[in-house]
Amino acid sequence: MRKKLLIILLLAIGSAAAGVAQSSSLTLKEQLGKKLFFDKISSPANSMSCATCHAPSTGFTGPVAGINLHGAVYRGAAPQRFGNRKPPSSAYVTFSPVFYDAGGGFFIGGNFWDGRATGARLGSPAAEQALGPFLNPVEQNNPSKKAVLQKIAASNYAWMWQPVWGTPLQYSTQAQIDMNYDRVGLAIAAYEASSEVNQFSSKYDYYLQGLAELTAQEAWGLELFDGKGKCSACHVSEVAGDEPYPLFTDFTFDNLGVPKNPENPFYDMDRVFVNGQPINPLGDAWIDYGLGEFLANSGNAAWEAMAAANLGKHKVPTLRNVDKRPGNGFPKAYMHNGVFKSLKEVVHFYNTRDVVSANWPPPEVAANVNTAELGNLGLTNAEEDAIVAFMKTLSDGYVPSQNRLPGTMPFDAPASELSLDILEGNPFGEATRLAYYLPEKANVQLDVFSLSGEKVRTVVSTQQDEGRYEVGLAMNGLGSGIYIVRLQAGNQMATKKVVLVK
Ligand code: HEC
Ligand code: HEC
Repeated sequence: MRKKLLIILLLAIGSAAAGVAQSSSLTLKEQLGKKLFFDKISSPANSMSCATCHAPSTGFTGPVAGINLHGAVYRGAAPQRFGNRKPPSSAYVTFSPVFYDAGGGFFIGGNFWDGRATGARLGSPAAEQALGPFLNPVEQNNPSKKAVLQKIAASNYAWMWQPVWGTPLQYSTQAQIDMNYDRVGLAIAAYEASSEVNQFSSKYDYYLQGLAELTAQEAWGLELFDGKGKCSACHVSEVAGDEPYPLFTDFTFDNLGVPKNPENPFYDMDRVFVNGQPINPLGDAWIDYGLGEFLANSGNAAWEAMAAANLGKHKVPTLRNVDKRPGNGFPKAYMHNGVFKSLKEVVHFYNTRDVVSANWPPPEVAANVNTAELGNLGLTNAEEDAIVAFMKTLSDGYVPSQNRLPGTMPFDAPASELSLDILEGNPFGEATRLAYYLPEKANVQLDVFSLSGEKVRTVVSTQQDEGRYEVGLAMNGLGSGIYIVRLQAGNQMATKKVVLVK
């Protein structure tokens, strides 16, 4: 009974705290960034936000099936205008280092397909990247930094500004405008770096912690990904440096010889004008030179000298969430121009690009094509499928299934009562194990809540027979603190407090 009283107390604390913070696992700065990411700050007003092209349901890339199936470029707030590339995922981008020359003409880091959001000025590629779309005439199309700040000042989340930055949101002098506009980018980057965006909650993450098992096909796919397929040479599948989990990119640039996407609407942008200039003066003759073009226009003489050796190269994207989609048949587009429409097609391209009978169209840029690591891998059809199956384990939001253990109970739970125990460490650093006993068949719901009452994990949600169960609890991606594990079975409930220390 004492146990139950404690539960009620804890839940009462929880609901009182809920009134203060909107979302406890995000700091106020991250919450401000989230508001800015989802707010439709655009011209025409309320027509487009970052999430219009980077939606959580598709792993923070484009969420419109009809666009993904064809040109893969998303229209701007001014509806006739199109940019030139497919939106990459905006998750896991904050791990990319500030763009640098690693020697020998090899570049690493930055944001965008061509790395041009270098991060050199603000120390964060993602923060610099986030300053672009609001003002880009083919994206959110706001007329000025000041106009963006005015819209934020008039929003219902404007109150967050002062507590986050320590000064009110002012924009009467150019210095105030510049400083506060940079802060817009920094807040968005904070959200992009948060545990809500970078969840590390895929099946593969649980597998690495011993909390999930790969199927035989997925495990074979992983072996091929690291071996015969050579994928991990660029999409690194192991932890590198001080990253918490593998990022599936080394942030380098490569020309894979990807063909043009003839449906890219940018080819028609010679007929659409901004300030009297065509958006794409070259029309159909336009070629996406990627990193080489950025270096050529960088104004840095050393970089300009290395432009030719980098024509056609694009940043290695993370493969996290590469298969995340709102439904099984929902189409996604792959590569910088979205020319490929399925993961199978992508793998088949790596496997057979240089096999004449495969008849792939010529590369968009013929210079600097990588022939050492792809082109003729000799993978069988079944091996291609296995690599695809492995990539499907990289979607966040996986719920590890509980494994029912036969045998006796190591703790004495009265056989008539629901019980919940923590088997391994508490406090713990990343993961622990829970055990519970169901006195009878019931609908079981095992959730983890923050102290403000926000549900941060669902561990079990299913009907189960009477018996003892053990489940892994991974808290990766969540901040240090006290959390409440709540087990509900029919009309019985048990809770435990767990302490996460990082
Ligand atoms: C109209 C669609 C559109 C909108 C709106 C948009 N983006 Fe993007 N985003 C793109 C495209 C296309 C690219 C790639 C452009 C390139 O590489 O030249 C991109 C690139 C990015 C990247 C780089 C990812 C990487 O791997 O380097 C990030 C981060 C990002 N966007 C975040 C944002 C944020 C934050 C906003 C809102 C301030 C936003 N985007 C608004 C289409 C959009
Ligand atoms: C030499 C480095 C390299 C190797 C090896 C490599 N990739 Fe890539 N991968 C890239 C680059 C660079 C891109 C983006 C190219 C572009 O858009 O032109 C990319 C893009 C992708 C994409 C599209 C992601 C998106 O968001 O559009 C997938 C999927 C992918 N690779 C899977 C694989 C698989 C599977 C393998 C192994 C069979 C592999 N890659 C091997 C460098 C590499």
